Amino acid sequence: MSNENPALFEQLQLRQLTLPNRIIIAPMCQYSADEGKTTDWHLIHLGNLAQSGCGMLILEATAVEPRGRITHGCLGLYDDETESTLSRVVEACKKYGNTPIGIQLGHAGRKASAHPPQNGGAPLKLDEDSWETIAPSDIPFANDWHRPRQMDRSLMKHVIEAHVQAVHRCERIGFDAVELHGAHGYLVSSFLSPIANQRTDEYGGPMQNRMRFPLELFAAMREAWPATKPMGVRFNGTDWDDKGLLLEEAIEFGQALKKLGCDFFDISGGGNNLSRPEVKPAYQVQFATAIKRATGIPTMAVGMIRDPHLAEKLISEGACDMIAIARGFLFEPRWSWKAAYELGATCDYPAQYARANPLLWPQAFPDNQELNDTALDWEVGAAPHIMVPKN
Ligand SMILES: Cc1cc2nc3c(=O)[nH]c(=O)nc-3n(C[C@H](O)[C@H](O)[C@H](O)COP(=O)(O)O)c2cc1C
Repeated sequence: MSNENPALFEQLQLRQLTLPNRIIIAPMCQYSADEGKTTDWHLIHLGNLAQSGCGMLILEATAVEPRGRITHGCLGLYDDETESTLSRVVEACKKYGNTPIGIQLGHAGRKASAHPPQNGGAPLKLDEDSWETIAPSDIPFANDWHRPRQMDRSLMKHVIEAHVQAVHRCERIGFDAVELHGAHGYLVSSFLSPIANQRTDEYGGPMQNRMRFPLELFAAMREAWPATKPMGVRFNGTDWDDKGLLLEEAIEFGQALKKLGCDFFDISGGGNNLSRPEVKPAYQVQFATAIKRATGIPTMAVGMIRDPHLAEKLISEGACDMIAIARGFLFEPRWSWKAAYELGATCDYPAQYARANPLLWPQAFPDNQELNDTALDWEVGAAPHIMVPKN
């Protein structure tokens, strides 16, 4: 209870969507889908996170065509069945949850047709029902990976159309926001990176050319999405490799996206080859800050931000506008409640869980004098186990 008005709990307006706070649950593949369709795992996993009172819950990378899935277990949104099963999950999240719901749409490109990380992440073998992958150039991701088919213009148009159809499905399902996956070496990211994109036509070479397909794609998606709803892009601020995407180029991409009506950025890094950075808390924030300052677009930072005080510092000092958290939310699905408690803010609880709010049982937090001072006055209700506020 350290801060009067924590910046982390200020609302943020993105077009007509109001985020209740700056805490975003980052997209996280669950590798638990059945032929692209959600399963009960998604209902449990997302239903749980949707009750966290966070600023927005962004669903995992969702493939716009079967070939765009990373694994056999990846979520898809490319036919009526995938739409109706996903719709059921989102409907339940909206009925019982208390957070805006976004989705990350994408295409795995040359990193498709693989095993999930928990099974080693290697590319699928022929007898494991592998499939042909596609990419800007016919360069495999790494040794022993599939050699992708180099995309021609008609395949680019096909992939753009698949994204547009998925955006229409998102609108029918009732998503509040869409995020295009342009990071981590998947299809859009591979176009942006000179490591993966070695084309000699107008889609390769200088950044102006490498971003041509990603921008055509984004423009078509934005056009298909209601003007009232926000659409953002997750992209790399760096490939963590001198031969990869440079920060200046990422900024150039951000500036071009801004002109196309992009509402938010979600800045990550890596994945176009096996280069890995040394990680530590907030290790990627510098890229989000540079891109936010250069473009003025509301920007999320992601990567090892788990301490609420660190998150508050980053927002209050203007390093970024939103904090995206992945593993922290798997570890503590009510991370937002914890952050609110530690920073002295309020955060929404579903009615069924309202009694867990520390304000209602401050005696369980004896070291927190301030909490004890602001505690609500409750009394024993009609049923002996129910406490109700005194009025
Ligand atoms: C289980 C898991 C699945 C992930 N799936 C995705 C994904 O679908 N799309 C994506 O852009 N990033 C994905 N990521 C990366 C996270 O969104 C996030 O950028 C990364 O984990 C760093 O944030 P953290 O330190 O808060 O976990 C995934 C991470 C984890 C742990």
